[in-house]
Amino acid sequence: MKKVGVAILGLGVVGGGTYKILSEHRELYKKAHDLDVEVVAVLELRKERALALGIPESKIASGIAEICSNPDVDIVVEVMGGVEPAKTFVLNALNAGKSVVTSNKELYCKFSHELEKAAKRNNCGLFYEASCVGGVPVIRALLDNLQGNKITSLMGIINGTTNYILTKMSNSGADYEAVLKEAQRLGYAEANPKNDVEGYDTVYKLSILASLSFHTKIPYTKIYREGITEISLQDIEYGKRLGYVLKLLAIGKNSDNGIEVRVHPTFIPADHPLASVNDSYNAVYITGDSVENVMLYGRGAGALPTGSAIVGDIIYCATHTNYRYSTFENTEFASPSTKFIENFESAYYLRLNAEDKAGVLSNVAAVFSKYNISIAQVIQGNDDNSDGFVPMILITHDTQENSIRKAVAEINSSGAGSEVVAVIRVAS
Ligand code: HSE
Repeated sequence: MKKVGVAILGLGVVGGGTYKILSEHRELYKKAHDLDVEVVAVLELRKERALALGIPESKIASGIAEICSNPDVDIVVEVMGGVEPAKTFVLNALNAGKSVVTSNKELYCKFSHELEKAAKRNNCGLFYEASCVGGVPVIRALLDNLQGNKITSLMGIINGTTNYILTKMSNSGADYEAVLKEAQRLGYAEANPKNDVEGYDTVYKLSILASLSFHTKIPYTKIYREGITEISLQDIEYGKRLGYVLKLLAIGKNSDNGIEVRVHPTFIPADHPLASVNDSYNAVYITGDSVENVMLYGRGAGALPTGSAIVGDIIYCATHTNYRYSTFENTEFASPSTKFIENFESAYYLRLNAEDKAGVLSNVAAVFSKYNISIAQVIQGNDDNSDGFVPMILITHDTQENSIRKAVAEINSSGAGSEVVAVIRVAS
């Protein structure tokens, strides 16, 4: 039986979950894979975390050097998060000939080119299934199972915190601030929620998933980003009336015209498979030329779901020696031959605060016509209009982002009785 020594860097939620799975399933891996997988060392400043998990003091390392020089360590699991010191520790481990399994989306997204170079140089494995969408095996699907496809599109709800907040706003009628507070109280949102609610976490994950999907490096800096902090309950309610559900979507599209990558709140039709992905659940909806549409759904975070992805990588690493790396040229920047589309096409939802009198709608329609924007639907809200203004909702046909921006700027500066107060993209 092959002995596999694992060292875990960081015993927070995910590190603890990983330790629990490895301990509880040890006999299973002996039977199923002829592997005796043992956690032989941990690196954790808060000793009490290790002791609470039943890890003996003798396994608590004094530093990364001790782990790197330990001949019993084959695989280092990095679940610390953030760039430093995680990056230095991962490079140390790879340079010491240890394979690495990481859940760190920010690290992998920003530095995969450096990490992969070190892994290749040292003939080590570098695995990152847990970096994107927690327990949902989307990285392996992209690396292996979907290779029969040219992937043309991926759309994902890949951040549990924001999906929880938007679902609760929609179901309870509470506003963003109230739901965020509740999410923080329940542990779904961090005390500083910026990384999640402003879309950074989603951008890091999309950068990794789009690079794998489109076989070319998609740096996170190329991804358009808008978070959910400006979302008002009113728009969620109007969207519902029009048959839409609001989600923070990660969108990647690859066509002959180029690649578009964006993260923003998006209305999706209520009958789209992604519309029923609620609460903190995640899903990725992938379209390929052979398979057509595939949706992978599950828990995108949490101790055991993320631990599940990490342990899957550990077993994969222990049962393979001929490691494969990225299915794209893993450089720091995008290839000069990759064309990015910034002026993408979409349908749009616009909410205007409009004076309730003759001619206002035709002024708006004239501006839209000037920018060749075709209106698909108009409704006038019935909110209290004691100030003489009413909400007016417009849905456009597909049009260009730049046209919408110009039209909104013109309407808002014209003083012609209406102001655009919300713009939300609509996916088909
Ligand atoms: N903070 C992330 C989320 C989980 O809310 O989905 C880890 O990526």
